[in-house]
Amino acid sequence: MPEVLTQTKPAAATSSSGKAMISSARIARRVRRLGRQISDAYADIETPLVLLVILKGATVFAADLLRSLSIPAELEFVRAASYGGGTASSGRVRLAHMVEGTVAERHVLLVEDIVDSGRTAAAVTKRVKDMNPASVRLAALLDRPARRAVNVTIDFRGFTIPDRFVIGYGLDYAGLYRELPDIHSLG
Ligand code: IMP
Ligand code: MG
Repeated sequence: MPEVLTQTKPAAATSSSGKAMISSARIARRVRRLGRQISDAYADIETPLVLLVILKGATVFAADLLRSLSIPAELEFVRAASYGGGTASSGRVRLAHMVEGTVAERHVLLVEDIVDSGRTAAAVTKRVKDMNPASVRLAALLDRPARRAVNVTIDFRGFTIPDRFVIGYGLDYAGLYRELPDIHSLG
């Protein structure tokens, strides 16, 4: 874990080298493209697409993605947390809040900020499949394959990133930095 516990922006966000890993402009372009791709993929479905957003990190991505769609879509949320609060190796995922509307017979697109071990996406996918949806696919803004522990298929991927912890654009460290418009790596 990186050593950043202050209330101020981390060095990565403010240093004179100051370069973001992924700038807000680049994110915006990529998200618009993903929106077009998703709209094409679901062009023929007869019910509104259900965007199932994995709280909290994916909310910023989801808000932009939603506005990049040219097909009708609904929003649902699920809260997922690893047991043991923190390390990527805890291995089990608890779903604390499940969708309010029904997803039976509906086309569901999971929206995740980053796929790391893959456990969160795999756990949510499994639970959704138990609810008898018409289909389940996954959109992830970031893919960090270096620490993958579970096989997951990412149907719509924003960026593949190296093995660095990242913050900004919804992604947090200890609850902070979600407001940064760019994505930065810590350490
Ligand atoms: P996974 O279950 O190991 O794939 O972890 C995915 C979840 O861990 C994501 O939904 C994030 O909430 C969180 N996470 C993993 N890596 C990072 C990171 O680099 N920055 C912020 N959150 C992360
Ligand atoms: Mg998350």
